[in-house]
Amino acid sequence: MQIQNPLKSSLELTDREFEKISRLVYDQCGIHLTDGKRELVKARLGKRIRNGPFHSFQDYYQYVLKDDSGQELIQLLDSITTNFTFFFREQKHFDFLQTEILPELMRREPSNKRRLRFWSAACSTGEEPYSIAMSLLEIIDRPSLWDLLILATDLSTKVLKLAESGIYPKERIQSVPPLLIKKYFLRGEGRWKDYVKMKEEVRKLVQFKRLNLMEPFDHREPFDCIFCRNVMIYFDKKAQQTLVHRLYECLRKGGFLLIGHSESLTGIEHPFQYVRPAVYRK
Ligand SMILES: C[S@@+](CC[C@H](N)C(=O)[O-])C[C@H]1O[C@@H](n2cnc3c(N)ncnc32)[C@H](O)[C@@H]1O
Repeated sequence: MQIQNPLKSSLELTDREFEKISRLVYDQCGIHLTDGKRELVKARLGKRIRNGPFHSFQDYYQYVLKDDSGQELIQLLDSITTNFTFFFREQKHFDFLQTEILPELMRREPSNKRRLRFWSAACSTGEEPYSIAMSLLEIIDRPSLWDLLILATDLSTKVLKLAESGIYPKERIQSVPPLLIKKYFLRGEGRWKDYVKMKEEVRKLVQFKRLNLMEPFDHREPFDCIFCRNVMIYFDKKAQQTLVHRLYECLRKGGFLLIGHSESLTGIEHPFQYVRPAVYRK
């Protein structure tokens, strides 16, 4: 049991402290913390302060600024991000991927290359890139003849660790069709009986990496399709606009950008062609 310092039990988050922390988070990763997020910041960072050697939010903030290793900043951003996701979230995107995007990309690809590149740009705990990988395996006749890669990135190191393990509690695969569960998941045994693991043939298609969407990208090759879903909602218009232009630069001509269905490029100046709700094309 953790012993709590009684002096810290009534931690106050002043307006000034909230402002400073919000500015730091915005400058670092584009996340716009509205006043409605105040309680979230207080609860999530408060936990770290109570369990650490800090006396106040100001004290903690100063520590983050002075920490040359950058580790405390990573922890701070980890605790602020919202990582909700699930397999085949927004099923319409995966239907469109399987029936339209993939067949077209495959037709277009010269037979001596057969290379397809995907990017899951805010992959959270991995359900999105693994859903893309399963879709590829379902549609491509002989995947071993193709050079396939899904780059999966996120700001949070915590979620990336879980994603890389490919291990999920059983209830997390409720949205996966039974046939795909049978084909692509291993059931745990003994103390792992309540867990499943993605099979190696799926995992080997996905490469995880920490990447902050607000920092310059250094991709070596362009992508055929980018999933950047349910992350732009946390950014303000200015950050969204910058990001959308940078994603455009990373795509091949004719490549696709998929954003979350509750997101929209309306009100943003951008060079994309609209395809259907939440799907755009270079
Ligand atoms: C709600 S999840 C979306 C997961 C998945 N794309 C989906 O649609 O289900 C949002 C993810 O965006 C990540 N994120 C937030 N700001 C980011 C940034 N500046 N760069 C990269 N990832 C970021 C968070 O860590 C979180 O895992």
